Amino acid sequence: MTVSDFRLHDTTPAPAIANPARPLRRLHVITWGCQMNVYDSGKMADVLAPLGYRPADGPADADMVILNTCHIRERATEKVFSELGRLRVIKEQRAAEGRSTILAVAGCVAQAEGAEITARAPYVDIVLGPQTYHRLPEMVARAHRAAGPVIETDFPVEQKFDFLPDAPAAQEQAVTAFLTVQEGCDKFCSFCVVPYTRGAEASRPAAAVLEEARRLAARGAREITLLGQNVNAYHGVGPDGRDWGLARLIRALADLPGVLRIRYMTSHPRDMDDDLIAAHADVPALMPFLHLPVQSGSDRILDAMNRRHTADDYRRLIDRLRAARPDLALSSDFIAGHPGETSADFAATMQLIRDIGFAQAYSFKYSSRPGTPAARAPGMVPEAEKDSRLAELQALIRAQQDDFNNRSVGLEMPVLVTGAGRRPGQIAGRTPYLQAVHMDGDASLAGQIVPVKIRQSLTNSLSATLGLSATLIVPAFKQERASA
Ligand code: SAH
Ligand code: SF4
Ligand code: F3S
Repeated sequence: MTVSDFRLHDTTPAPAIANPARPLRRLHVITWGCQMNVYDSGKMADVLAPLGYRPADGPADADMVILNTCHIRERATEKVFSELGRLRVIKEQRAAEGRSTILAVAGCVAQAEGAEITARAPYVDIVLGPQTYHRLPEMVARAHRAAGPVIETDFPVEQKFDFLPDAPAAQEQAVTAFLTVQEGCDKFCSFCVVPYTRGAEASRPAAAVLEEARRLAARGAREITLLGQNVNAYHGVGPDGRDWGLARLIRALADLPGVLRIRYMTSHPRDMDDDLIAAHADVPALMPFLHLPVQSGSDRILDAMNRRHTADDYRRLIDRLRAARPDLALSSDFIAGHPGETSADFAATMQLIRDIGFAQAYSFKYSSRPGTPAARAPGMVPEAEKDSRLAELQALIRAQQDDFNNRSVGLEMPVLVTGAGRRPGQIAGRTPYLQAVHMDGDASLAGQIVPVKIRQSLTNSLSATLGLSATLIVPAFKQERASA
């Protein structure tokens, strides 16, 4: 049976185990962009697994290559075309050897620039937006038959989540996992393409999320990060038929066996409700580390950005969160040089950063995105000025991050062991604050939370030694495994 035997419009989830009679095919996925793209790439591999697709070593070895793209900042489209040029050469080399290659472009650039992709790169076989990847098997079948490209960039009425099969049973699961609970955005910040590429806010039913979390935990995931473009705007229908907010969902997830740690990202300050703040106080599995983008510390710029809150609203919100969870550490996103940003506005952003104190943050130079309101706004900041503001901001953030990491030295922290470290005999893990840690230890500790003494803060990680009690955990854990 070849893939082209797949019925058109057949979106029935195929069996999780591949038909052994099906020829083995190789799939290579290149992922750019946010965590949701990482999650989506995994799901694309899952829907293709029943067709016999297994991971390739690289594009040259792949019968199908998916480029999962991001549109958030400048030159996104050009970057895609330059990568496609490289993939075209590989496709032609393979064709000369008698091997065919399906080339697919997915993600937010595909959504925004589908027509341009097919016009400029006619050797692309499939263009699919983030809402249509459950239709990939059918699109692959059509690509085999069709002379031209197969394009799917509409926002279908059906929810892709209803059609996604579980990951193949053989697939090894990592200790940490992403789980999309909400997608899309209705906020329309002046500068941002996401509402156009991901569509309107939509939340998955709580039962579907809980079921996916149960499966992840059964395969060994111990830390689950709930994903959404506006994850704290989550409002899904609960198993009781009522509307569940994110806090309610987190409480139910925390009750699942095996789910030891929960995180969520990315949040909007306006959607941080009382119940979610309370969850930080009373759900121990909810980690004391929150990514809460503020973008700017100037009210004038926050207004121009259509963020619909002030810098003081943000400060008060952080006060309430810290009152609920005194050991909470924070991360954020900042944009330097939004149209209209004066040096006084920028100084207000620097002041906000000093007032709050971040454990880390992501910062970007404002990048004009066609079709967004900011792209047409007056007061564009000169490139050199944006560069110098960004450098100044990043230096402050770096200093705060180093300070935060230095203050970890000497502390004993519960570390979730994620697997083997880089050097033999070493293991890696993460602290509640998402700091990467490495230490000497037995890789059989993967999936366990162990007490660890932080010894040293390095540029991007901490080095540590296992705490005393950890040695007692090993035999117990092994026993548990043996009897499982
Ligand atoms: N939904 C999230 C983040 C979406 S994009 C939120 O609301 O916070 C991730 C980050 O990219 C944003 O927080 C913003 O800081 C940055 N970003 C988005 N559009 C940008 C643009 N046009 N120029 C520069 N940075 C941008
Ligand atoms: Fe973009 Fe704003 Fe929506 Fe975040 S909240 S995805 S920055 S429009
Ligand atoms: Fe990029 Fe789309 Fe994510 S534009 S940041 S991949 S939502």
